[in-house]
Amino acid sequence: MVNFVSAEFYFVDAMKRDNKDFKPYEPLGYSEEEMLTRSRQFFEYMNQRRSVREFSDRPVSREVLDNIIHAASTAPSGAHKQPWTFGVISNAELKHHIRELAEKEEFENYHGRMSETWLEDLKKFGTDHIKEFIDVAPYLIVVFKQVYELDEAGERHTNYYVNESVGIAVGFLLAAIHYAGLVALTHTPSPMNFLEKALDRPPNERAYLLIPVGHPAEDAQVPELSRKSLEEIMFMH
Ligand SMILES: Cc1cc2nc3c(=O)[nH]c(=O)nc-3n(C[C@H](O)[C@H](O)[C@H](O)COP(=O)(O)O)c2cc1C
Repeated sequence: MVNFVSAEFYFVDAMKRDNKDFKPYEPLGYSEEEMLTRSRQFFEYMNQRRSVREFSDRPVSREVLDNIIHAASTAPSGAHKQPWTFGVISNAELKHHIRELAEKEEFENYHGRMSETWLEDLKKFGTDHIKEFIDVAPYLIVVFKQVYELDEAGERHTNYYVNESVGIAVGFLLAAIHYAGLVALTHTPSPMNFLEKALDRPPNERAYLLIPVGHPAEDAQVPELSRKSLEEIMFMH
């Protein structure tokens, strides 16, 4: 059903895209019943995702990882600037170097930089500055945000809504990891600029998240958590 306002909007929109390259959008076209089933199944599936802090060293194929990062790259971004870089680290020595640097920052965090309230909020996770998973997980994905674009000639170009765009891409990444049957941890050993140096990144990139990916350890445990109810997180007028 098209009402007057949206019909007018579509008309203006059609004028605006004159002389531009467009192609018809191909709708997926699910029935009401299919939508209901799919949306419920997707919720149930995503509701099983957990952050895991104990990994197995079981290898994961490069192709699986490529597919996961490819899925993340389908995220929307401000003006389609795609302001992200995904660094994938599998080299054991480099992972260990990153672990040492991360643990140095985390030691400071857990021994003075975090507030009492923060430390209290973290108690239920049983975490400390020791980050064994950085050595054990077969891959570390280091996500960088590109605060501006740097072209091949070294010219700077503006990126828009960088944090929002990269956050959405990481959401896609985590969903893809879960969909492949693997686990991840969204890790923030802040300040994370050591990653820019350790991975020799260009000046437009800032480390955004450090995400170990792999299979869970056989005896991996996760904290008992409950998620907010729909009533708590949603309103409707
Ligand atoms: C932005 C962000 C930063 C996080 N940083 C850390 C971290 O440094 N270390 C850690 O153990 N977990 C970290 N987490 C994981 C959260 O503790 C976890 O997502 C939360 O407890 C909910 O658990 P779930 O992911 O299993 O649903 C982070 C999560 C997010 C989204």
